[in-house]
Amino acid sequence: MTEKLSTQPYKGVRDFYPAEMAIQQYIFSTWAHTAESFGFARYDASVLEPAELYRAKGAENEEMVNQQTYTFTDRGEREVTLRPEMTPTVARMIAAKSKELAWPVRWYSIPNLYRYERAQRGRLREHWQLNCDIFGIDDMATDVEIIALAYQIFMNFGATDDMFTIHINDRQLMHRLYVALNLNEEQILSLTRLNDRRDKMTAEAYRLELDGITGDGTVSEEVIMLLDKSDAQTDVVVGLAELGITNVVFDKSLARGFDYYTGTIFEFKDTDPDNNRSLLGGGRYDNLTALFGGEAVPGVGFGFGDVTMRDFLETHDLLPEPIISPTVVVAPTEPVHNLSAQKIAQALRSSGVSVAVDSSARKIGKKLSLAGENLSTYVVALGEDEIASRRYTLKNLVDGTETTDTLENLIDYLTDKY
Ligand code: HAM
Repeated sequence: MTEKLSTQPYKGVRDFYPAEMAIQQYIFSTWAHTAESFGFARYDASVLEPAELYRAKGAENEEMVNQQTYTFTDRGEREVTLRPEMTPTVARMIAAKSKELAWPVRWYSIPNLYRYERAQRGRLREHWQLNCDIFGIDDMATDVEIIALAYQIFMNFGATDDMFTIHINDRQLMHRLYVALNLNEEQILSLTRLNDRRDKMTAEAYRLELDGITGDGTVSEEVIMLLDKSDAQTDVVVGLAELGITNVVFDKSLARGFDYYTGTIFEFKDTDPDNNRSLLGGGRYDNLTALFGGEAVPGVGFGFGDVTMRDFLETHDLLPEPIISPTVVVAPTEPVHNLSAQKIAQALRSSGVSVAVDSSARKIGKKLSLAGENLSTYVVALGEDEIASRRYTLKNLVDGTETTDTLENLIDYLTDKY
């Protein structure tokens, strides 16, 4: 006998059964309406990109390109990568139209991204990521705006300030501080990449790699002191306070994994120790579009993953009960009435509510209780009497009230309600 195929999805990706999809949709729609409330317009692109997009100098993230991309050769010998992030794609799209666009450009997207990661809490091989970016302005007020948008997303999900902290750092400032310690450009790049992994390392392992970069124990100690001392305030922190956003820390140990950031960088972190991953991350990148020739357009933005979003909402008990059932269930008492039930359902839908027929062989009592368990609001039982009298009873499963009337009047009733 041949071996049976597994019903499991590919490692590190998810199937979305309706209950999960309802949560996913709730997250996506809250993301979309928050971005749109800030005047952002939606864009998208293909998941397929030429592999060189992620290898170009200045765009690369060493760990990502070498270890984390899904790259293959197509039938025409082209190297193709499933996009691991959206920023190079949006930079490409902006660069292609830079002559026509009216600056500033505020764009958002909810792409699915692929990274060959070790699957663990908060990290999968396919995730969806809200990307919000502003192009064309190099001004700290724009950095404030993009962080305020990320903050507003949390508010729109019902979060409060104590549930998360906004960590902010500045690549330029860190660069100046490292130069003052006599570190050269190559050392600064390696150190930034190392610092991005610091949270996941023991102090000893970190120190060992740090010594490898500085080549000098005293300098290493100064680097550690510098990172652990929190003193500086930036314009961005002050600007956020002006907007009433104060769950903010200036955090010199924040590094971010991508080489392309040139100024402000930020991550939002959950304050609950059970969920201590970065929830979202972003920053200012002023040179990325220059990779495509033409002039550099300044950009600032962030990416927010659906996995960390959902972990956050679950950790803080902020997920509403997903409703995946129709508002009205038409329940024929016998299978012979199934087709009549379809006619009634079709008519009721003209009121704008969702209506489905329970065409199973279950007993009518079971159909009614199931509709209630599934959180439908109304049920219409359909038997000989209703068909003969052309009067139907719309039963409200929430408060138990009943309305018996003609189909036309029930449609009017539902239209008024919804
Ligand atoms: P990133 O820090 O790599 O940044 O990812 C941003 C967010 O995406 C993370 O904080 C997390 O929520 C989510 N995320 C990343 N990798 C995974 C994964 N393997 N599984 C689940 N969720 C994940 C970027 O991607 C930048 N391109 C963001 C950006 C946009 N910067 C400027 N504009």
